[in-house]
Amino acid sequence: MNVRSWAGSHRADPQPRPSTFSLLLKSAGATELAARLSYLIELRGIGLVTGEPGSGKTTTCRKVVAGLHAGLYRVIYTPLSTGNVMDLYKSLCWELGLATERSRAALYRAIRTEITRLCHETKVRPVIVIDEAQNLRSEVLEDLRLLTNYAMDSENRMCLLLIGQAELRRRLRMAVHEAFNQRIIVRYHHVGLARDELALYLGHKLRLAGTELPLFEPAAIEAIHQATSGAPRTVNSLAHQSLNAAALANAKLVTADHVQLALAEVT
Ligand SMILES: Nc1ncnc2c1ncn2[C@@H]1O[C@H](COP(=O)(O)OP(=O)(O)OP(=O)(O)O)[C@@H](O)[C@H]1O
Ligand SMILES: [Mg+2]
Repeated sequence: MNVRSWAGSHRADPQPRPSTFSLLLKSAGATELAARLSYLIELRGIGLVTGEPGSGKTTTCRKVVAGLHAGLYRVIYTPLSTGNVMDLYKSLCWELGLATERSRAALYRAIRTEITRLCHETKVRPVIVIDEAQNLRSEVLEDLRLLTNYAMDSENRMCLLLIGQAELRRRLRMAVHEAFNQRIIVRYHHVGLARDELALYLGHKLRLAGTELPLFEPAAIEAIHQATSGAPRTVNSLAHQSLNAAALANAKLVTADHVQLALAEVT
């Protein structure tokens, strides 16, 4: 194994793609999150997934929704969360294959009508996923609540999943968002890899890069966990730089000292 093949094993994956889902580690957190999402999709309603940056929220959620039956679910994934209500409605209309109307009221009506048609005529359930939802403006959150509210129905017609950083959870606790917050039926805070999972994760990445050798000493793994709290994105870069430091020193194994040297490169 060389350091370049390790780098290739994660660098080529800046955004999770379906072809790479089978290469992901089934960590306890990812398994728990997947179970919560299945529950949300079954019940239909609003779900909230938060977590620290790089903890694997997007990857796990995308993997779950990519596994949904295309004949039963219409997944609309949008990472564009910085716009206003019109931007959101236009993007939803586009994804639903609707003409983009001019007024906000017409857009709202068109989306609601299409969701009703999908549910009644085709039995297809829409699943709207908004990533980076910590950026959503307050008025957009309020409109999302109205859009997903089918109070006259005996059952919910669609799922809305918000994925965002930890601050989103705090924001939704504010009085102004109480109505939205009350309608959240699944909440999950995703954390990085546990200490004992990190060795498995590194072994998994090394195997993908072509080696079965345990190149990281236990103390190095401990140091990586302390520095990253197990968030896969920072684990990947710190492990990569630590392998570089070990290679430069002609060492066979990565030690805690190599990790300390590498920390300067990633922080
Ligand atoms: N279970 C896993 N197995 C292997 N790699 C993973 C796993 N979970 C996440 N990763 C990797 O970690 C990196 C970060 O993941 P991701 O982008 O999903 O994090 P995030 O929590 O959505 O980050 P952000 O807060 O920046 O949106 C990606 O390169 C992804 O491939
Ligand atoms: Mg993300």
